[in-house]
Amino acid sequence: MRVLLAGGAGYIGAHTAVALLEAGHEVILLDNLDNTSAVVADRLEQITGTPVTLVVGDATDDAVVERTFSAHGPFDAIVHFAAHKAVGESTQKPLDYYANNLDSTFALLRVGLAHGIRSFVFSSTGTVYSNPADLPFTEAGTRDLVELSNPYSKSKLINEVVLADVQRVTPDLNVTLLRYFNPVGAHESGLIGEDPRGIPNNLMPFVARVAVGSLPEINVFGDDYDTPDGTGLRDYIHVVDLAEGHVAALEKAQPGLVSYNLGTGRPVSVRELIASFEKAVGRELPKVVAPRRAGDLAATYCDPAKADAELGWKARLGIDDMTSSVWTWQQRNPRGYDS
Ligand code: WQD
Repeated sequence: MRVLLAGGAGYIGAHTAVALLEAGHEVILLDNLDNTSAVVADRLEQITGTPVTLVVGDATDDAVVERTFSAHGPFDAIVHFAAHKAVGESTQKPLDYYANNLDSTFALLRVGLAHGIRSFVFSSTGTVYSNPADLPFTEAGTRDLVELSNPYSKSKLINEVVLADVQRVTPDLNVTLLRYFNPVGAHESGLIGEDPRGIPNNLMPFVARVAVGSLPEINVFGDDYDTPDGTGLRDYIHVVDLAEGHVAALEKAQPGLVSYNLGTGRPVSVRELIASFEKAVGRELPKVVAPRRAGDLAATYCDPAKADAELGWKARLGIDDMTSSVWTWQQRNPRGYDS
């Protein structure tokens, strides 16, 4: 297949590009580089031995998407990663998040459907599930827009509604909604990885920056949750497993609308993740218990059985693989792609 990866130079997009290339498919990256670097294309060629075309442009612009199709199409499928994704930031910049995360989908759909694409795979999120009583979340979990706590998650759920309605009037089109839990980790080469701008909001890249010495200490946001060790539980999934889930979804795509949770189904606590990272580094890391972070849930994790049953996919890698791969990436790239 020939696949357009919108946001394809980003963290998950780049790892998906490796998985697709290694499975014998062709990829073209479209990315505005507002949260990544053009270096990624070179790193992908180093990993796979295949030159990778990166079109620098904004997926919200129909003319940019049209030029990409004219110059590099035809495409069998679009995988849409191009979105702002910081939960906290989204509460400060709701209009940015709704405009970017929805306009990109509209432009990609308008142009992609005009060019007859067969499949649209959407990067969704486990944060669309709104009722903790449904844990572990299956794909049937409650998704109530008014109950969601932030514009990021709401923008993803609204995207899902738009895609379902468009698919309803385009019967030959496959729409696959992939609901990620907590993507972490890096390719074993250490050549590509998560490189958030500024101070990371998320735990894993923050711990990595403390381990490499660019941040002083880890803040454990609360140790009084109703969990086995009192710290928050999350379903961390290795980005390489996540990427392979995209390949499985594309290769199994049939006309219709489907959704899959991409997680391990094995929740891990903050303290367990830190302990695993310390094992990878070979020393203790400085940490302090801080107040809970507003909006955090005690626990969120999925039941990934549907992806296993229907796609023949399940996560293979565990937390030690995740932390050791991040440590390799961070050591090789102490200042990310600008190292
Ligand atoms: C994980 C745990 C924190 C930072 C992320 C993304 C969101 C979505 C889901 C894709 C929590 C604790 C964190 C720190 C800490 N991904 N923590 N100290 O909040 O689950 O959301 O995954 O859709 O986009 O933001 O991940 O890594 O921020 O937090 O103790 O410095 O670590 O309380 O328990 P979260 P996170």
